[in-house]
Amino acid sequence: MSKLELEAMPGVSEAFKKFKRLFEPSLGVLGFFFVTVCVIFFFFYVDSRAFSRGFRFSGQSERFVWLQRKGSSVDEIPRVEFLGKNDALCNVFDGDWVWDQSYPLYQSKDCRFLDEGFRCSENGRPDLFDAKLMLEKLRGKRLVFVGDSIGRNQWESLLCMLASAEPNKDSIYEVNGSPITKHNGFLIFKFKNFNCTIEYYRSPFLVPQSRRPAGSPAKIKTTLKLDQMDWTSPQWRNADVLVLNTGHWWNYGKTIRGGCYFQEGAEVKMEMKVEEAYRRSMETVLQWIEKNINSNKTQVFFRTYAPVHFRDGDWKSGGSCHLETLPELGSSSAPSNNWEQFHIANSVFSSHSNMLEAMNLKVLNVTWMTGRRKDGHSSLYYLGPNLGPVSPHRQDCSHWCLPGVPDTWNELLYALFLKHEANRSRNSSTTKHSLNSST
Ligand SMILES: *[C@@H]1O[C@H](CO)[C@@H](O)[C@H](O)[C@H]1NC(C)=O
Ligand SMILES: *[C@@H]1O[C@H](CO)[C@@H](O)[C@H](O)[C@H]1NC(C)=O
Ligand SMILES: *[C@@H]1O[C@H](CO)[C@@H](O)[C@H](O)[C@H]1NC(C)=O
Ligand SMILES: *[C@@H]1O[C@H](CO)[C@@H](O)[C@H](O)[C@H]1NC(C)=O
Ligand SMILES: *[C@@H]1O[C@H](CO)[C@@H](O)[C@H](O)[C@H]1NC(C)=O
Repeated sequence: MSKLELEAMPGVSEAFKKFKRLFEPSLGVLGFFFVTVCVIFFFFYVDSRAFSRGFRFSGQSERFVWLQRKGSSVDEIPRVEFLGKNDALCNVFDGDWVWDQSYPLYQSKDCRFLDEGFRCSENGRPDLFDAKLMLEKLRGKRLVFVGDSIGRNQWESLLCMLASAEPNKDSIYEVNGSPITKHNGFLIFKFKNFNCTIEYYRSPFLVPQSRRPAGSPAKIKTTLKLDQMDWTSPQWRNADVLVLNTGHWWNYGKTIRGGCYFQEGAEVKMEMKVEEAYRRSMETVLQWIEKNINSNKTQVFFRTYAPVHFRDGDWKSGGSCHLETLPELGSSSAPSNNWEQFHIANSVFSSHSNMLEAMNLKVLNVTWMTGRRKDGHSSLYYLGPNLGPVSPHRQDCSHWCLPGVPDTWNELLYALFLKHEANRSRNSSTTKHSLNSST
């Protein structure tokens, strides 16, 4: 890696490494995690009690302990079988990177055998999310989230992540004094000392929902205008960083069942299915970006669908997720009814890949990694501390606890944002710096 890149993109490679690991440390209570396919193999096929017996801590379940303990017994567990009779079953080179708090095995400052070229953390490499750096890069800028409540979930996560670098909490405030609630049209938080704002505009469809055209059939209550952009779009079109998302409202229950039909031009398309409407709205969003966004100024991100995890039903019919305490570690990822929206958006993106590139539009492609986090939802715990858990029939298996999974999306956003900034400064200063390659 060139010297310039190292200076320009601290933390990026680490954030990508974490993407591979999939799981962020903020749910670190789990201890985390599985080391190799071998370990998974043992977990499912070998009598796990045989392992956990040796590692038990009082008052904790065997399964939990086994996982938590595993971190420091990475060597012990595989070795039992690897060196034993059944070693042919285990390919130790086949596996996944996963989060494990017991690493690193040593600190460079404790080891005198390292030359300085390898002492990255001592040489100032700021790993993970560097809130201060992000705030510096956002100085004088606007970062705007637009979308549904999962977008608000992510926006709140980023506010918390950035606020961690500002000791004076009073210097962070909503510019209109509005409280954070579910139903606000928009919220603008200012970080006064950085003269930057982190904003959220509620727009679950990204296209406008409006009153039915005069004279249309009574069963039409509202329409979604698939060929227009949300009416608030002039307010966020000039943002410096724009993070869009949509998907969770593009289903029958939130549209046609409630009398919300789809409109193009003056015509209400009574026969149009919600999947087709979603596809057309995505086309509209991309065309709007192409026509209205100055890619020299604005970095646009589109975050993909965040899977829901209702087991045995949906949010209305007693679906649940509240006893989920572990990520999906096997091969399956999310319930299959999640993938429709993802596939639609994905196919729109791939049919416009040239435009995505020309506009420098980045897809925050979090669907797959998020699909494995059935353990991360609010479940029974969304009403506030004094009201206690809700009835098991009213679970929330679509929004995310914070800290939690959306923090990881923001770490990836951070990585792409910094990379873009680095690109930009490299472009504007290519004559000044030569890319002297380092060892
Ligand atoms: C704050 O940022 C805005 C752009 O968002 C800029 O127009 C303004 O000049 C900045 N103010 C100061 C004091 O830097
Ligand atoms: C963006 O910048 C490039 C080079 O500086 C310029 O050629 C191009 O016209 C600009 N595009 C817009 C939309 O301003
Ligand atoms: C997102 O990732 C999935 C795999 O998880 C891939 O199939 C898809 O093409 C990606 N989409 C985009 C737009 O990058
Ligand atoms: C950085 O620039 C390269 C080439 O100009 C481009 O391929 C890449 O997508 C850019 N990355 C970001 C994050 O903007
Ligand atoms: C950097 O310059 C290249 C070509 O000169 C251009 O394609 C690319 O979009 C620029 N990147 C940014 C972030 O401006």
